[in-house]
Amino acid sequence: MSNEFEPIIIAFCCNWCSYTGADLAGVSRLQYPPNIRIIRVMCSGMVHPNLVIDALTKGADGVLICGCHHGDCHYLEGNLKAESRADAIGLMLEDFGLEPERFRLEWISASEGPKFAQVMQEMTMAIKQIGPSSFRTF
Ligand code: FES
Repeated sequence: MSNEFEPIIIAFCCNWCSYTGADLAGVSRLQYPPNIRIIRVMCSGMVHPNLVIDALTKGADGVLICGCHHGDCHYLEGNLKAESRADAIGLMLEDFGLEPERFRLEWISASEGPKFAQVMQEMTMAIKQIGPSSFRTF
């Protein structure tokens, strides 16, 4: 058994674009690391910053919020709300002594299976480099 650090990364994916992009990556047999745990949400704008901080202080090493590109949100401005919350999340990470790399916001459309796989690979590599969250107890 390898002792290499295997991060746990939560990816909140909006139902209409990013989750479908993840699905496309899957059916296209694109490889991405098994470290990613996808949580399907109706819109990126529904992900409250407290959910991100909760995840990062209760076992996750990294969190992504993935939504529709600007102009494509099915709830019109949910992704803009997510974007403004990302700034708040950055400040909260600082308060909790967590590295900014532990959070990432990305726009991934339903047709961007390859982008989904690439972002998941990049995020996993970035988290492997900085190591486990200081809140991780296992
Ligand atoms: Fe995808 Fe709002 S529905 S970001």
